[in-house]
Amino acid sequence: MKAVIFLGAPGSGKGTVASILQQKWGCFHLSSGDLLREIARSNSETALQAKRFMARGELVPDDILVPLIELKLQGVDNACCIFDGFPRTLKQADLLDEVLERKNARLNKVILLEVSQAILLQRLGGRRVCRVCGANYHVVNRPPKQSGKCDLCGGDLYQRQDDTEETILKRLEVYTKDTEPLIKRYSDKKLLERINSDENGEVIAEKIRQILTLNGCVPN
Ligand code: AP5
Ligand code: MG
Repeated sequence: MKAVIFLGAPGSGKGTVASILQQKWGCFHLSSGDLLREIARSNSETALQAKRFMARGELVPDDILVPLIELKLQGVDNACCIFDGFPRTLKQADLLDEVLERKNARLNKVILLEVSQAILLQRLGGRRVCRVCGANYHVVNRPPKQSGKCDLCGGDLYQRQDDTEETILKRLEVYTKDTEPLIKRYSDKKLLERINSDENGEVIAEKIRQILTLNGCVPN
């Protein structure tokens, strides 16, 4: 397995670009947020706990998230795996190194998606997500063909519970405090590649595809 991390603030486009790479180039898209939203649908104690942290825009504890990540990686052996939203702390970066070691894999690249705060706020405020398949839309930037319905599966679109102004600001604060230190860690390891995320999603995905091809993560 080849491992690539997508780093970037909430709304920088991690999920959008990773799903384009999944559809076009067969990458395995592992979004920690999607994984948590998936389990949050159940009524287990773990689900209720995870939901509480997410609704406040805070990080879900590692002992809930990390086993879910490992489970999701079972059987992912040859693909290029894009870690979207994990790791988010220095501690999680150490945990990911351990997970990769157990799979005889190593981290190939870290892509940092950069965009201004004004754009982040515009993107998160207008985001809509398909309740059935999880596809991502934006009321202005990426509207569905039929209002409120998913182009791919016809499912209803909804606004994420944590896409309210107050929670968005909290998530941005958590990103600055807990996640930004990862930029130095991976830059020191010469793994970091910065990408301007204020472009069309397809254009960004193609730029990243070229970087990953040079690194042998996706075929030419
Ligand atoms: P998560 O789901 O990971 O949310 P996030 O990091 O806040 O990132 P987003 O999903 O909001 O943004 P994105 O970068 O994916 O942008 P997107 O492509 O959707 O995490 C949610 C919560 O789960 C966390 O707050 C935490 O509680 C918990 N959690 C997750 N991981 C955790 C971890 N490791 N540890 C602990 N807790 C964890 O794009 C946004 C919008 O912009 C969309 O509408 C899209 O259509 C539009 N858009 C995207 N790209 C473009 C573009 N190029 N041009 C125009 N519009 C665009
Ligand atoms: Mg996302």
